[in-house]
Order: sequence, then structure tokens, then C-alpha cells
Amino acid sequence: MKILLCGKGGCGKSTLAALLAGAYAADGRNVLVVDCDESNYGLHRQLGLELPEDLTHYFGGKKGAYREFDSKGRVFEKKWTPEDVPPEYTSRKDGIRLIAVGKISEAGEGCACGIGFLAKEFLNNLETGDNDIVIVDTEAGVEHFGRGVDEFADAIIMVVDPSYESIHLSEKVCDMCRAFGKPVYIVINKADEAQEKLIRETIRDKEAVIAAIRPDAGIMEAGLKGEPLSADIPALRSIKDKLEKA
Ligand SMILES: Nc1ncnc2c1ncn2[C@@H]1O[C@H](COP(=O)(O)OP(=O)(O)O)[C@@H](O)[C@H]1O
Ligand SMILES: [Mg+2]
Repeated sequence: MKILLCGKGGCGKSTLAALLAGAYAADGRNVLVVDCDESNYGLHRQLGLELPEDLTHYFGGKKGAYREFDSKGRVFEKKWTPEDVPPEYTSRKDGIRLIAVGKISEAGEGCACGIGFLAKEFLNNLETGDNDIVIVDTEAGVEHFGRGVDEFADAIIMVVDPSYESIHLSEKVCDMCRAFGKPVYIVINKADEAQEKLIRETIRDKEAVIAAIRPDAGIMEAGLKGEPLSADIPALRSIKDKLEKA
């Protein structure tokens, strides 16, 4: 199963990616986390892993995937499984493997389109078995939808924090997912009981809401210190159950 996480900046996409990765790994699933956020550097820390070398480097840099595509009409010669990702481009521990498609690291190095293109080709080319869970963490907003990065996804989770912006964005995301025929689920994050109630009342796509995560002092402290996350929160079980039935 391939799961894509989306939502506005700071809503908790990477946090949920790391928590879900840990929860699935604890169930004995083979977890591949794909960091598609070219700007942020938090996810590997939340997982307690080193940042792996950019997968774009394997393809000769940000323009490499375009060059392959232009010369051969495709980027990948054959389908890849999670095991086919070259180990020198992954970091791993305890049943979790992390890859980073690419990061913008220098001023003036140009746009991130090549990274987005490779992410799309990679994820569309990736074959998963029954025990494989692929968790894709994205940059903020909906640009990846425009690029079609989500085509591969079996399920899309939109993280909604207590803000008007998040609630509004959820309508756009739900509309786009439905247009693509993709199942979309909403997870409310960082909301106390009263805020959760208000979000559930206000949000248009009420039936898509599958879980809520409270503001958590442990998560916040780990985020502040850049330390690995380990939170045993009941929402993770509900999310996994809902996705399993998808
Ligand atoms: N449920 C929560 N309780 C407390 N802090 C949270 C919670 N979820 C996320 N955070 C904090 O919010 C910040 C943004 O989260 P992050 O997952 O990086 O967001 P995103 O990836 O969507 O930009 C981080 O500092 C994280 O530790
Ligand atoms: Mg993030």
C-alpha cells in the first residue's frame, strides 16, 4: 500500500509520517518512507535516521531523470520494489527505510521541478507487495497534485490543524482526490476537544475525517529538540484500521 500525506505547512505531515512509519514497523510491515519535501529537513530526525543522499544523485542530478526520459522515453528500465532502491541512497533501522528524492540545498540552484518529476516517475514505477507500506511525505500545499505526484497513491491522508486555512484547503484536496478517483482521509492534528468539535462541525467533507490527534507535549518537545518521535497514540490504530479497509 502506498500512502501520501498532504496538508498545509506545519500541520503535522512529517510528524504523522514518522508516527505511522513506527506503528507499521512495529506491526512487522516493511516500511519505506519517501521524503518528497525538497525544502524541509525534519523528517529524518523525526524518524531517528540519517538524511540519505538524494535519490536524484543516482540519476545524475536534478536534470538526470529528464535526460533519461528524453533519450529512452522512460526513466526506469524495469519496475522497482522497495528492495531495489540502491542501499547507498537509503538510511534504515528497525524495519523502516528512508529515501529522500532531493533537497534544494544551495541558493540559486534552480527550481525543484526535476525533483518532482523524479518523485512522480519513481513512485509510479514502484511495485509493492502485501507486506510493504510506502509512506510519502510531501511539501506543503497542493503543487504535487498539479504535477500528478499522487497518481500512484492507494490512499491520501490530508492533515488538518486547527486553522481556517487548513479547513479550506481540505475542500480543494478532497475535490482533487475525488476527481482522480483516489480515496482521501482527513486526520485532525493539534486540536483539543473543543477545537476538534468545531472542525468536525465546520468541515465540508465530514465523512472523510478518520481520526484526531491531540496537541502532545512529547511530540512538541521532540520537534523542538530534533529528536526521534515515539508516541503511542490511539489515533494511529484508527488510521491503520481505516486504511486497511480502504
Ligand atoms: N500533535 C502534535 N502535538 C504537538 N506538536 C505537534 C503535533 N504535531 C506536530 N507538532 C509539531 O508541529 C511542528 C510541525 O510539524 P511537522 O510534522 O513538521 O509539519 P509539516 O510536515 O506538516 O510541515 C513540529 O515542530 C511538530 O513537532
Ligand atoms: Mg514536513
